[in-house]
Amino acid sequence: MFRSFFIFLSQAHWARSFTTRFRFAWLAASRFVAGETADDAITAIRVLNAKGINATVDLLGESVTTEAEAARAAEGYLLILDKIAAHGVRSNVSIKLTQFGLDIDQNLCLRNVRRVVEKAQVTGNFVRIDMEGTPHTDRTIAVFSVLRKDAQFAGNAGLVLQAYLYRTEADLLALTEAGARLRLCKGAYNEPPDRAFPRKADVDANYVRLTRLLLDRAQTAPPADGSGRIPPLPALATHDEKMIAAAKAYAAEKRLPRKYFEFQMLYGIRRDLQELLVREGYAVRVYVPYGTSWYPYFMRRLAERPANVWFFVSNLFRR
Ligand code: FDA
Repeated sequence: MFRSFFIFLSQAHWARSFTTRFRFAWLAASRFVAGETADDAITAIRVLNAKGINATVDLLGESVTTEAEAARAAEGYLLILDKIAAHGVRSNVSIKLTQFGLDIDQNLCLRNVRRVVEKAQVTGNFVRIDMEGTPHTDRTIAVFSVLRKDAQFAGNAGLVLQAYLYRTEADLLALTEAGARLRLCKGAYNEPPDRAFPRKADVDANYVRLTRLLLDRAQTAPPADGSGRIPPLPALATHDEKMIAAAKAYAAEKRLPRKYFEFQMLYGIRRDLQELLVREGYAVRVYVPYGTSWYPYFMRRLAERPANVWFFVSNLFRR
């Protein structure tokens, strides 16, 4: 109920214009968002890099409705990829296809994404395509698959899969068979019970199962670009200590090196755990969002943890 309500709010325009009027809302969101500009993101990445943590940077924005907005998103990513190269920081990028025009036209979206993947290829970088709600799942996989078929880009793009969906096991098998580089997360959207496990315990159990599958499959899958140049690092995106312990135990059982896969977490969440994992010798990457369209992302972070909301609401009405 609680989670669904905040995910509903993340998509409500009236709630967005109400909430973003308060300066405190930005102050609260800035726990999860590195800043409003590309330079803010670079500063945050530098701090993470100094702690031995890699980054994946996200220019906030989603569900655009005009071609101009979609083109602006692509331009924004070209800029941040140039800045990553110019500053020599360790970061790739994460994108959302609805920010690139997926809801306007799939080919328009593909053209915009291709520009960014092309730039990543030239600068020796990598583009991770985030997974949004199920109305977009098939189209997201379709765009990713077209990019992967282009041998030039096969190693420069990866995809996210969500453990709360029943379909994910089949998607994971098909995509790893083709050598795709995947990030596994639990899933952050409202989904009906005929598409996603309604109970958290079932989502968690599926996450553990899919982690094992991903680690097994990554062992046997061909290198993403056929050259072996880019290791097919499977990415486990979670702050859940039980999921992390299960992954560590399975990797140890299979005698996988600690840097064979990476743990990924969100900016501002469980910094202690991020640093602990680095000290233990695991690869860690933090998702660093920046930009002015922080509202939906912030609402999804509130949805994940009631304590975040009580802190936010109590301060909202105190000001
Ligand atoms: P869970 O929600 O069970 O939380 C476990 C623990 O983590 C909590 O007890 C708490 O300690 C901490 N925690 C989790 N969320 C918190 C928060 N907001 N504030 C404070 N503490 C929190 N989703 C998606 O649908 N598509 C995508 O492409 C991505 N991409 C993505 C990338 C990366 C790098 C991460 C880490 C996550 C995503 N997600 C995502 C979000 C993901 O689906 C999920 O909603 C969150 O990661 C929360 O789930 P956990 O696995 O952390 O477990």
